Amino acid sequence: MHRLINALTSALALSAALAFTPTAVHASLPGHVDNAEPLLIAHRGASGYVPEHTLAAYWLAIEQGADYVEPDLVITKDGVLVARHENAIALLNADGSLREATTDVADRPEFASRKTTKTIDGVALTGWFTEDFTLAELKTLRARERLPALRTANTRFDNMFEVPTLNEVLDLVKQANERRRQQALSRGGLKALLKVKPIGVYPETKHPSYFASIKLPLEEPLLRTLARHGYHHKGDPVIIQSFEVANLKALSRKTSLRLAQLLSNGGQPYDFTVAGDRRTYADLATPAGLKEIAGYADGIGAHTALMIPLAGGRLGTPTTLVRDAHAAGLTVHGWTFRAENQFLPNEFDSSANAGDWGDLAGQILAFLRLGLDGIFTDHPFLGRQAIDQFTRD
Ligand code: G3P
Ligand code: CA
Repeated sequence: MHRLINALTSALALSAALAFTPTAVHASLPGHVDNAEPLLIAHRGASGYVPEHTLAAYWLAIEQGADYVEPDLVITKDGVLVARHENAIALLNADGSLREATTDVADRPEFASRKTTKTIDGVALTGWFTEDFTLAELKTLRARERLPALRTANTRFDNMFEVPTLNEVLDLVKQANERRRQQALSRGGLKALLKVKPIGVYPETKHPSYFASIKLPLEEPLLRTLARHGYHHKGDPVIIQSFEVANLKALSRKTSLRLAQLLSNGGQPYDFTVAGDRRTYADLATPAGLKEIAGYADGIGAHTALMIPLAGGRLGTPTTLVRDAHAAGLTVHGWTFRAENQFLPNEFDSSANAGDWGDLAGQILAFLRLGLDGIFTDHPFLGRQAIDQFTRD
């Protein structure tokens, strides 16, 4: 009888694990304050190695050991969420030169007439914007390296990849999770299968007030797309982030998925500007501000300078932000960790060349020792090494 019960239990566990939905793995999810290992969040994919926000960048990030991939989300004219750092897919400087060109749109004569000037979050910009393109039109474009002067090696992948939809990113993650489970099953059987941690998704709503103002709000299609992929609950491997407050508060009433309030090292949330609320990100980073955030979010995504400000270009004295956020019951994920000297505190630089890679692990370890729960990094391969070293030591 016992053997029969054991066999049935194993069969049920096996079928539950194979018929995977994200909710099936709550118990093993990463991302909480009490989690043993800090989360490795691939910032815009493995964007230090290939052009950001492409399926290739997300796929490489997963191969490099990322726990979560981070798509920034904007929207098309016909209401489809796509992964781009900005709705601007190429901008023009006053002298006509290009900047922030994450696509080849400026070289496409058929879209020359879409060039326009508009004000996004109070800033006048001239260029091409996702909300002026249907998905079909956007899909004819090809992605380019956003920082070609710094990440020259990545430009060899220019014009190879499409702009992915959120749906395609979620499909990629699903396939990677299925592959991971099949590999675990064939290597270690049911025991190994049950230990598999799913790769998560950490989407950011970009310019939510602006998109609501043009009648293309991001939140409803986001929740709908996530639900279609089986993401509904707090324990599911999804964290939704925003630099604005009002849309996160509204989301907290509509979903039980986890939410993260992004905190910048200057300025204020744009919805505060619109509402005439004078509070700044610095106000939100105080114990009182963090207590308010804990009323609608599960964590904060904080600029590194809010945790360890620079002093003379080097890491200075840590603030109490990590401790204060934990006291408020919030997780803390820091951004953005990048290997190029241009982005590193001076003591981690390898040379005077901005594009050379310095000691990223050194910088990450300094922050992990503060008690960070996760890091956003453009270089997941190096981030994984640093987290492994931190966990070992
Ligand atoms: O979302 C964390 C970090 O990505 C915020 O900055 O501008 O890179 O989206 P950004
Ligand atoms: Ca982001």
